[in-house]
Amino acid sequence: MTTSLATTPPAGPSAVSDELGVPAAQRRSAALEKLIREHPERFRVLTGDRPTGRLHLGHYFGTLHNRVRLQDLGVEMMVLIADYQVLTDRDVADRLTGHVEDLVLDYLAVGVDPERSTVFAHSAIPALNQLLLPFLSLISVAELGRNPTVKDEIAHSRQSAVSGLMFTYPAHQAADILFCKANLVPVGQDQLPHLELTRTIARRFNNRYGDVGNPVFPEPEALLSAAPLLLGTDGTKMSKSRGNAIALAATADETARLIRGAKTDPDPHITYDPATRPEVSSLVLLAALCLDRDPHQVAGDIGGRGAGALKATVTEAVNGYLAPIRARRSQLAQDRGYIRRVLHDGNERATAIAETTLMEVRAAMKALY
Ligand code: TRP
Repeated sequence: MTTSLATTPPAGPSAVSDELGVPAAQRRSAALEKLIREHPERFRVLTGDRPTGRLHLGHYFGTLHNRVRLQDLGVEMMVLIADYQVLTDRDVADRLTGHVEDLVLDYLAVGVDPERSTVFAHSAIPALNQLLLPFLSLISVAELGRNPTVKDEIAHSRQSAVSGLMFTYPAHQAADILFCKANLVPVGQDQLPHLELTRTIARRFNNRYGDVGNPVFPEPEALLSAAPLLLGTDGTKMSKSRGNAIALAATADETARLIRGAKTDPDPHITYDPATRPEVSSLVLLAALCLDRDPHQVAGDIGGRGAGALKATVTEAVNGYLAPIRARRSQLAQDRGYIRRVLHDGNERATAIAETTLMEVRAAMKALY
């Protein structure tokens, strides 16, 4: 992407972001970006998603695009499908296989290359999961209970009781990251507490069991990207469950219908002003991202022609941008055997890495019998 304005500027200081160490993480991320360009071979990235259904444009411009960029820069990529993390959600768990395969399809369609990136599901990697036990011994119940992201998810969950899996998932996430000794984790701000816990676990493990000067685990760093804030077509957070998201796999007609129904405002003069005109600006931004143009210029071109012209521009831009991705996706969808093979190969590669790490962990703990 060549435009600099097509992404929202990093969030300014606020009580919440300060508490999470966001400004420091942003400064460090800028330095990391430079290092990545100079020495991509020094990094192993782990990223992943919960398999909750088809990915949408919010995911695409928020993270997928960035992963493919890192992959293409030559960074080694581990792409995790966090299927254990969705077991607490009954609706998702009932259709898990389909969701996992959809996720693999979306990854491949946007350009994740299974030759260069390892796509795997954590439930298929026994040695990864075994790391959870020693890791849980290194953190307290109070530490888990303080995690702001878990607190938030518990508050918003529809479950009547919090499961042990839900409560401990940040420790499981540490296993996701440390099993392959990833040193870089591209995340959104909400995932920073989990990364902090991962670093704590790595440090405590090294201190307790490692040799001085020869740590078992690296302390992975967060790579915060200035992800654009795309709203759903109703002006609230884009999310599949709200029916306001444009799926990568949607047809051109479905896309046109969703955009036609998108919320705007009564001012027919189109401008890009996210603070005062969030709905119109999000549409302008979406077109700008797809066209790789500056959002102010996109808005300027539409000028006084109103919301109808804006929506026509957005529809054309989105459908044009997604056309090759969708074509590739539907071609790949013909061959479920290939999708399963990609996952199977990824699981094998991840298993080999996890088994090596687990042996090191057991050796460090003097638990090799
Ligand atoms: N919790 C992440 C999410 O909800 C998914 C995830 C699981 C993850 N394990 C991870 C992300 C490890 C980064 C690293 O999106």
